[in-house]
Amino acid sequence: MQLVLFGVVFVLICFAFVVLFGAPYVPTLSPQVKTALDLIDLKKGQTLLELGSGDGRVLRAAAQRGLLAIGYELNPLLVVYSRLTTWKYRKQVRIVWGNFWNVQLPECDGVFVFLLDRYMRRLDQKITKQARGKTKLVSFAFEIPGKRYAKRRGGLFLYLYD
Ligand SMILES: C[S@@+](CC[C@H](N)C(=O)[O-])C[C@H]1O[C@@H](n2cnc3c(N)ncnc32)[C@H](O)[C@@H]1O
Repeated sequence: MQLVLFGVVFVLICFAFVVLFGAPYVPTLSPQVKTALDLIDLKKGQTLLELGSGDGRVLRAAAQRGLLAIGYELNPLLVVYSRLTTWKYRKQVRIVWGNFWNVQLPECDGVFVFLLDRYMRRLDQKITKQARGKTKLVSFAFEIPGKRYAKRRGGLFLYLYD
């Protein structure tokens, strides 16, 4: 009984503490994952970076399109789960356990995020400062305040950085 209680508390902590650093876990639904990848339009062999990669569904869909994919995820349970569900694509997909605000962005051609309104300005500053070369950003649900998007499809916004 104590073990079950400990397990439940551990799971709750894993999902709850993340809100101190970013958006809580809410997965993007399949139609929006497809639209996001269509919108970002990366070519085979290019790299998609996902900041807050959740259960790995976007990384998996990207790998299925022949992309390389890197995910940063803070929740250790989601890191383990997504490593298992992307195992088949392990040569293309890398999932890093950590806080993406604290790392230098790795080289990539496109970034996908599903965060919260209050993090969008900080994200814009981070990408402007750290992106190497032309980079596309697709944000699900939230716009960058004061920045013009290049395209919009449904609730997805495409931004371009030079
Ligand atoms: C709204 S969910 C989106 C999940 C996934 N991107 C998707 O679209 O299905 C946000 C995810 O970001 C993770 N997250 C939030 N803040 C983070 C941070 N600072 N570093 C790494 N991951 C973070 C959460 O644990 C959660 O899985």
